[in-house]
Amino acid sequence: MAALLALFVVAFAMVFGNSAADPDLLQDICVADLAAGVKVNGFVCKNEANATAEDFFTAGLAKPGLTNNTFGSLVTAANVLKVPGLNTLGVSLARIDYAPGGINPPHTHPRATEIVYVLEGELDVGFITTANKLISKSIKKGEIFVFPKGLVHFQKNNGKVPAAVIAGFNSQLQGTVNIALTLFAATPDVPDHVLTQTFQVGTKEVKKIKSRLAPKT
Ligand SMILES: *[C@@H]1O[C@H](CO)[C@@H](O)[C@H](O)[C@H]1NC(C)=O
Ligand SMILES: *[C@@H]1O[C@H](CO)[C@@H](O)[C@H](O)[C@H]1NC(C)=O
Repeated sequence: MAALLALFVVAFAMVFGNSAADPDLLQDICVADLAAGVKVNGFVCKNEANATAEDFFTAGLAKPGLTNNTFGSLVTAANVLKVPGLNTLGVSLARIDYAPGGINPPHTHPRATEIVYVLEGELDVGFITTANKLISKSIKKGEIFVFPKGLVHFQKNNGKVPAAVIAGFNSQLQGTVNIALTLFAATPDVPDHVLTQTFQVGTKEVKKIKSRLAPKT
């Protein structure tokens, strides 16, 4: 009986296991035709005869990104939009730079688990489980931390020098839901009454956050 159950579990995992990440590719290469009018789950492939090394290349992560912005951090992507050859391959990278005091504010990636490797500096990082348990740690140069798929997570540079990481994703385009911006900088606005009731604060506080995160000029 136990053996039968185990067999069922293995078969179930084999049938549904692939749905945990980007679908597998069905050909050698499928360089994204980013300009194609046709939309599919991913991007249509350009003619294989027209594929070049440039489709599989970027130097975009070689230099630190500019961190002189509101949050003091910048994510530089090396995903399918920058490296079209990643289409259907289910992986991508990013580089994240942090000024001293900079934060990559709480966010989730709907399509990927993330693994970061610290290039320089030190970061306080963490994620929160669906049971609202914070799992956090300080990490430094050469160390690695993992943010499981879909969970809210953050990184903050509490050090006195800049920090940087390389982040790997098991998706060609992980997607990012920034919690603060999603709720307070959406267009059209999320109604004030939804936010006051959700956060148990007054309209004044909600309007203040909205004006900071999405200044109306
Ligand atoms: C392939 O490249 C040739 C020459 O640049 C161009 O004429 C042709 O339209 C391209 N084909 C596709 C499918 O992109
Ligand atoms: C950030 O710094 C760069 C280079 O020093 C400068 O060109 C840019 O205008 C700055 N951006 C902001 C928002 O201050």
